[in-house]
Amino acid sequence: MPNKQWITPDGKSYNLYADMLSQPHLMIAGKTGSGKSVVVNALIYHALFNAPQDSKKGAELILIDPKRVELARYKNLPHVLRTATEPNEFPQALQLAMSICDARYRDMARRGLLDYDGGEVYVIIDEFADLMTTNKKTCSALVQRIAQVGRAAHVHIILYTQCPLATIIPTEIKVNFDSVLALKTANVKDSRYIMGEPGCESLPDPRTEHRAQGYYRSSGDFECWELPMIPADDIAARIQWWMDQVKPKGGLFSKVFG
Ligand SMILES: Nc1ncnc2c1ncn2[C@@H]1O[C@H](COP(=O)(O)OP(=O)(O)O)[C@@H](O)[C@H]1O
Ligand SMILES: [Mg+2]
Repeated sequence: MPNKQWITPDGKSYNLYADMLSQPHLMIAGKTGSGKSVVVNALIYHALFNAPQDSKKGAELILIDPKRVELARYKNLPHVLRTATEPNEFPQALQLAMSICDARYRDMARRGLLDYDGGEVYVIIDEFADLMTTNKKTCSALVQRIAQVGRAAHVHIILYTQCPLATIIPTEIKVNFDSVLALKTANVKDSRYIMGEPGCESLPDPRTEHRAQGYYRSSGDFECWELPMIPADDIAARIQWWMDQVKPKGGLFSKVFG
């Protein structure tokens, strides 16, 4: 497989993260320290940059964060519809995504649309395994349903896991994720489960080599890409910029957009 850089052969720079954000659903898998959080932060960073919050084009986020710390920094952004950190909140957050799908389908039916023409909603699920161990039945059914109907409603799932086993990601969920980013795995077996062949186990270890690569498939074959890391200061500055756009009103944050 070719090693790709960020400049395409015709000299244009290619934004891998923009591509990932335009996929219906994305699964990111790799062992601890393989760079999952760095990629998700970059995705949120790009989502905030590409799609300013307004009624038509805005990107909205539903964050499911069983570890309670990873996505916490985003929770007060105006784009965030719901943050779930406790097991009993996970189904509620997924239910919210499902009801957005339903409302959008009703709206599309009324207007004769086959594809929703408004903004994107991203349901970001950190360590999917935690959902499957705490609330498997409900969460699994909801994720599967959203993955099936979200495409036309522009409701996307981005889930990541260090443990891509069949018991954690049931096949009926996995088949709905045509877009996959396979990061470094602990062994060949995990690599085979994620992308159907060996390779991930030999990727550089980001923690010791300070660089990351991953095999990405959106359509067609997996290809190896260098994965840049957005500096923490840039992420913090972007969050702050958005926080400055919302002002307190009557004790609550209110949006100044639209
Ligand atoms: N794209 C990258 N470029 C350089 N270093 C990286 C990159 N991705 C990850 N790292 C390094 O590896 C560490 C672990 O990454 P992290 O995203 O926290 O892994 P995971 O969430 O999979 O456990 C980071 O703190 C960083 O030092
Ligand atoms: Mg992480």
